[in-house]
Amino acid sequence: MYKSLLRPIFFSLDAEKAHHLTFSLLKFSLSLPLVRDLFRINTELSLKSLEVKEFGLTFKNPLGLAAGFDKDAYIGDKWKYMGFGFVEFGTVTPRPQIGNPKPRLFRLRRDRAVINRMGFNNAGADAMLKKLKRMKKGDMVIGMNIGKNKDTPNEKAVDDYVYCFELLFDYVDYFVVNVSSPNTPGLRSLQEKEPLTQLLLTLQDLNKKKEQPKPLLLKIAPDLTESQLDDIVEVAEKAQLSGLIATNTTISREDLDTPKADVEAMGAGGLSGLPLTHTSWEIMNYIHKKTDGKLPLIGVGGIMEPLDAKMRMQGGASLVQVYSGYVYEGPGFVKRILKALAFPK
Ligand code: FNR
Repeated sequence: MYKSLLRPIFFSLDAEKAHHLTFSLLKFSLSLPLVRDLFRINTELSLKSLEVKEFGLTFKNPLGLAAGFDKDAYIGDKWKYMGFGFVEFGTVTPRPQIGNPKPRLFRLRRDRAVINRMGFNNAGADAMLKKLKRMKKGDMVIGMNIGKNKDTPNEKAVDDYVYCFELLFDYVDYFVVNVSSPNTPGLRSLQEKEPLTQLLLTLQDLNKKKEQPKPLLLKIAPDLTESQLDDIVEVAEKAQLSGLIATNTTISREDLDTPKADVEAMGAGGLSGLPLTHTSWEIMNYIHKKTDGKLPLIGVGGIMEPLDAKMRMQGGASLVQVYSGYVYEGPGFVKRILKALAFPK
């Protein structure tokens, strides 16, 4: 129904308006017990035997919704009815911010891709706290992706991450440090060895002082060289991270079928979806080999078919996430992926 009926309607609208409309529809439908039951029946058959235990958490299945889709936890705990094993909210910043001017979200239909320069539009960490306090999450694992405000200089970035970490600590299952969005000026320079070490060690020190520390992960860009990746692995080991998420969106515009003039007219931003499939797999697999499989990995980027999810897991991921694939394929994508993972043939 999604592809034949709803997608043509959504895709005829401006991409961001369509996103908001999807959200309102989803939230409304998931408030109806009948719809919830339908989704549950749909996904339950695939859920058996898919449980994953990773960094001390139990995931009912390895498929997650990637960060940025439900930045402010608008759908919140209702995601559990859609079949996902985990959901990552955020990126959240200490103070609310409106993000970049619109339009800032574009579809590249020929490439089954998306370009976005949202710029961490979000309601802020205090609003997130209120939402989390009200949630009844059941067995769904909740990740929190944290970042810094646009007007916080990089020298003070650590304070922003610490604020979000401390405030939300009691209400989430794991944290992701996001230094890989291309849409906050200068953010990606925090991926360099020295600032990254300082940031991660500060957070991990605070974490270790807690009665029950939470898994701390880092989300990385797909535009890093091998030597930058080597540095990141070194820092991740030093800071005793629980894992890495590979990858965020790319700034590359290579090998697209969409006419160059159209792509240029869309302007700056991160590209996701099909053009990212190969690069994200390669980056993730490089780290998997470099660490002899000892560092848990969440694979994300260009998972557009159930087979992509399988290949990501074969390439070293313990868990996978989707964003653009969900936009193009709709809610039925979850069931298709889970089925493919549950039944190898
Ligand atoms: C994102 N992504 C993202 N990632 C993140 O860590 N924090 C964020 O706030 C956002 N926001 C965001 C908005 C939009 C509109 C898109 C399309 C993407 C990146 C996302 O989580 C994922 O890493 C990439 O999109 C790659 O996966 P897909 O889309 O190819 O499955």
